[in-house]
Amino acid sequence: MGLGTYQVLDVRGREEEARHEVVRTALEVGITLFDSSPMYGEAERVLGDALRKYGRDRATVATKVWTSDDRAAQLQIETALNFFGGRVELYQVHNLIAVEKRLGMLEELQNEDKVRSIGATHYSHSAFPSLMNVMLSGRVDFVQVPYNAADVAVAEEVLPLAEELGLGVIAMIPLGSGRLIRNAPADKDLEPLKEFGIETWAQVLLKFVLSDERVSCVIPATSSPGRARENARAGEPPFFGEEEQEYVKRLAQRR
Ligand SMILES: NC(=O)c1ccc[n+]([C@@H]2O[C@H](COP(=O)([O-])OP(=O)(O)OC[C@H]3O[C@@H](n4cnc5c(N)ncnc54)[C@H](OP(=O)(O)O)[C@@H]3O)[C@@H](O)[C@H]2O)c1
Repeated sequence: MGLGTYQVLDVRGREEEARHEVVRTALEVGITLFDSSPMYGEAERVLGDALRKYGRDRATVATKVWTSDDRAAQLQIETALNFFGGRVELYQVHNLIAVEKRLGMLEELQNEDKVRSIGATHYSHSAFPSLMNVMLSGRVDFVQVPYNAADVAVAEEVLPLAEELGLGVIAMIPLGSGRLIRNAPADKDLEPLKEFGIETWAQVLLKFVLSDERVSCVIPATSSPGRARENARAGEPPFFGEEEQEYVKRLAQRR
């Protein structure tokens, strides 16, 4: 299980301590991958500060480079390396921006042992063909794509290719950026899923994504330590079979 940082760690000043607590709790409950980007305002800095306090060594940092300008890209990378103690476990090209040039930069950092793995991300279905070309180039170890019970487009082509190539998959937007949560099904609709250890609709949605064996990690964002705990519990087996996955899709598509 991972933690997304979009919006939720984009804070300054007095709010920072409270968001450090989300990161502390995440590490405590076994959430180890933290996804960020220079696009997320203060999030990389706030995450770096929290990890320095609570256990950089226990974390897998997955951040991104996000610009078409070479000098700005260099600066983004230097800044992030400073936040994260001189190394980033997974460096991703955000939205495939200037992907060829950015992959070249990240490969150099990999040779210097500052970056362990390289990835590419895109949120839009229309970019999947380009993303798949990058996957086929052999230059990335991971892809990050949108995947939730109401948006299963990746299951058609991107995930089969990732499986064939042996690439890791990080599932973004698992709760539909909160949209799927706001209008939860009635408790009686969740009853058939209780034997899978789920207590809440958010856990159902997260377990749905993790029940796809092609997914390596899911990265729900939360600003609440309690929800980080709740979300982490969805990472425990047993996982849904095909029948339950179809059932959850039907529930989600009505939201
Ligand atoms: N590469 C890309 O192009 C891209 C694009 C989008 C996202 N991402 C990554 O994917 C991550 C996740 O996507 P996302 O942030 O858009 O949305 P998301 O994780 O699908 O949903 C986050 C929302 O769900 C709420 N939430 C979380 N856990 C909850 C729970 N247990 N119960 C009720 N509400 C809950 C959060 O509110 P509270 O804070 O109130 O808990 C927040 O508003 C991002 O943070 C980012 O790291 C990447």
